[in-house]
Amino acid sequence: MNRIGGADELGALGHLMSADSPSRKVFIKTFGCQMNAYDSTKMGALLAKDGFEPTDDPALADLILVNTCSVREKPEHKLHSFLGEVKHLRAGGARIGIAGCMAQHAGEQLFKKYRRDVDLVFGPDQVPKVRSLVARAARERVLDNRFLDQADYAFVADLAPVPANRSSVGAFVTIQKGCDNKCTFCIVPATRGVELSRPADQIVDEVRAVVQRGAREITLIGQNVNSYGLKVTAEPTFAELLYRVAAVPGVERIRYTTSHPRDMGPDVVQAYRDLPQLTSHLHLPVQSGSDRVLRRMKRFYTRDSYLRLVDALRSARPDLSLTTDIIVAFPGETDADFDATMSLLDAVPFEGAFSFKYSPRPGTPALRLTDPPIDARVASERLTRFQARQRVLQLDSNRALEGQTHDVLVEGPSKWDDHVVCGRTGTFKMVNFPGPAELVGQTLPVTITRGFVNSLRGELASR
Ligand code: 5AD
Ligand code: SF4
Repeated sequence: MNRIGGADELGALGHLMSADSPSRKVFIKTFGCQMNAYDSTKMGALLAKDGFEPTDDPALADLILVNTCSVREKPEHKLHSFLGEVKHLRAGGARIGIAGCMAQHAGEQLFKKYRRDVDLVFGPDQVPKVRSLVARAARERVLDNRFLDQADYAFVADLAPVPANRSSVGAFVTIQKGCDNKCTFCIVPATRGVELSRPADQIVDEVRAVVQRGAREITLIGQNVNSYGLKVTAEPTFAELLYRVAAVPGVERIRYTTSHPRDMGPDVVQAYRDLPQLTSHLHLPVQSGSDRVLRRMKRFYTRDSYLRLVDALRSARPDLSLTTDIIVAFPGETDADFDATMSLLDAVPFEGAFSFKYSPRPGTPALRLTDPPIDARVASERLTRFQARQRVLQLDSNRALEGQTHDVLVEGPSKWDDHVVCGRTGTFKMVNFPGPAELVGQTLPVTITRGFVNSLRGELASR
């Protein structure tokens, strides 16, 4: 059993650990999803036990870690440009490591390609072992991208909060690792391995710990949170977990991501009736509005069943705001398929949509589809059309909020103006309004004065 903080974690860290260099600094660069953000924070917390302090400046770091993303080709390119910028720092004694999804699926290649530039390459399953890996990397180059057996995998036991926003008002808590789905476009099952649910008691302990340290909003994270607990008899279901988290004193808001529409059962819909802590926002990736494309993506729901699920959620929680993910130009997507995605925007008013051009990923089942790839110009046009329409709808929807008053959980001072703070409504809309930084952490009524495409402006309402 791999015990975090156990004997294997306590080895000497070579020059990085020597007693006469008490101040060691680590710079962690994160690409990709909230899972990677979570892993990066946990790595930082584990390395702090060996005296590593975080730094924002790679030039000051004794250790530079880059946590990579593989979900599309673009984030993969970012690794190479980042390494191009920092690799000269190795000559000054810094150790450089590559973690995350790219390290998992292309570990051997990266290890060879960067034989002069990189000391350490390790995949997401090895995150809990970061301390011993870094210790070994002080003596030799290390590649470790093995998947662990389920019995050996350990969620990081460190309970330090992982901020979900600009202050510690929100915290991510992981509930699951990996994914057992086989959406044909997706590389995640190959990079994060099989799905494993974290024991509910551990989750609730972490929720308690982060609330004690000031978090008000908990975001439960996993690749497919709705299937939490389904494969182990001893654990609750996802819906039951929501009730347990809501019962922790001090939890004001609960959010979760990412949901798969197929696995979202009536018990979760019911939770929207029962639990005021569940925020009125749900990220529910639909990927396409065409049944033919959904079948080829192996999503196992139809446009119609998605719309029925949205109706059920809306009747449980009438003010529910929905956001989604869309892929355009999936192999074989016809004009009619794309039109079906466009028309979905009128059927479901999404308050936000992350939209992407299909990006072929190594080892994914979609590569076996024999359709000729969609012409690059057509793909770009489709993405532009989708995004333009979505922007118009978002702006209309945000303008319609003008004059309304919403409770806003204040997350931090505005980036641009010291006299302005920002926070989110229960529907996850970002609101900026004049006020001092002391308001951070409070939930306050704010009247919306102006709606923009991606945010709102407001002013504090008199209580
Ligand atoms: N190409 C384009 N977009 C993708 N996504 C996942 N894999 C791919 C791919 N190969 C998108 C999906 C998913 C989001 C996280 O990234 O929309 O929901
Ligand atoms: Fe990828 Fe599908 Fe799993 Fe999400 S549910 S991580 S899209 S395989």
